[in-house]
Amino acid sequence: MSPDLDPATARALLEWQIEMGVDAALEARPVDRFALPERMPAPQRRDPAPHAAPRAEAPRDPIAAAEAAAAEAADLPALREALGRYPHCDLRMGAQNLVFADGRPGARVMIVGEAPGREEDRSGRPFVGQAGKLLDRMLGAIGLARGHEDAGRAVYITNVLPWRPPGNRDPEPAEVAMMLPFLRRHVALAAPEVLVLMGNHACNAVLGKRGITKLRGRWDEAMGLPVLPMLHPAYLLRQPHAKRQAWADLLELRARLES
Ligand code: URA
Repeated sequence: MSPDLDPATARALLEWQIEMGVDAALEARPVDRFALPERMPAPQRRDPAPHAAPRAEAPRDPIAAAEAAAAEAADLPALREALGRYPHCDLRMGAQNLVFADGRPGARVMIVGEAPGREEDRSGRPFVGQAGKLLDRMLGAIGLARGHEDAGRAVYITNVLPWRPPGNRDPEPAEVAMMLPFLRRHVALAAPEVLVLMGNHACNAVLGKRGITKLRGRWDEAMGLPVLPMLHPAYLLRQPHAKRQAWADLLELRARLES
């Protein structure tokens, strides 16, 4: 910070930059971070204990590694840790937080969104920005809430990608492919009755289908569960006229839960 800048002005400048969409702090001089590890001293290798069993080789293929790590996770905290240790997805390098899930595990409804945005990256919780607030209102309109104490009215929320893609760009197919084994395990461990897929990217990842305006509101099946594709709340913020369709889909969800 410049010595001439008082804290209030510095804060105002920073808030203005955030308002303008600046979401990364770059230093005045570029740093080639890919070059850094080579300049760091190599970690000292310790010989394994003489009687220690040889460790299994970690798979190098990112998808095989994800499958192995996800399969080993016996519960949701272990799955979260496994994701935190997973080294193959470069998104983690640009993200502030791993965004794992919110709401109540064991809820009847599990919502799968696309990826964290800026607010979610900052807070480490999915769907907390404008789209998330709309999602909460949509759920509230049919008597559901994340973390509701009654499991029958609670929802559990996650995303296909647990790290924010830079500048909110679309997920790359390779990123989705790496994260799918974790998502499958996440669904198995959270054990919902139905999945709700928010938007095209979630449908593409889970159902392998695109075209949310056609898919929405029609029950499908994936991961051994009934699946309802819906319009993403971020889309509804841009296209408020589509809220009528979202309302119809919410009623469809409620009817299923009541049947
Ligand atoms: N959009 C998503 O798909 N997920 C979030 O967590 C936030 C916005």
